[in-house]
Amino acid sequence: MSTLAVYPGSFDPLTNGHVDIIARGARLFDRIIVAILLNAEKSPLFSTAERVEISRSVFKGLANVEVDTFDGLLVDYVERRKAQVIVRGLRAVSDFEYEFQMALMNQRLNGKIETVFMMPAEQYTYISSRLIKEVFALGGRVHGLVPDMVEDRLRRKLTVKT
Ligand code: PNS
Repeated sequence: MSTLAVYPGSFDPLTNGHVDIIARGARLFDRIIVAILLNAEKSPLFSTAERVEISRSVFKGLANVEVDTFDGLLVDYVERRKAQVIVRGLRAVSDFEYEFQMALMNQRLNGKIETVFMMPAEQYTYISSRLIKEVFALGGRVHGLVPDMVEDRLRRKLTVKT
């Protein structure tokens, strides 16, 4: 049996921490779907179309990575896609409580789906999409923390604003 995993998230924007987890997932599972949540925030920095475009471009070299969007309950999407696993990244103890609650709620909603937690490489353990947006907006350097395409798009957004 081949194992299909779903890696869900907001990805606003995609960080190198996400990329690292997806690359690890692509080695572990037969296929992995990067599932971008639609309308996660009222005003995301990157539109869904931009987030899909960025992810497709970043993972174009990985044949077993697919990029898709979803809304509604995650477990319903996972079942619809006939996947067996939800992948979530765990960076630090601070992530644990929220992730633990989500994993157990998803387990209650659908006991056939397993959540697998994966650790990113050490150098990415402090990165989050929220911090990237804040640091960049205030003029800080995010080089090496996000894919080059994301850095470029962030720069363009800032130039349009100012
Ligand atoms: O990148 P994020 O914002 O931490 O991802 C959160 C996400 C998308 C995994 C979570 O909000 C989610 O699964 N939303 C879909 C709605 C749902 O199923 N909610 C119940 C989760 S227990």
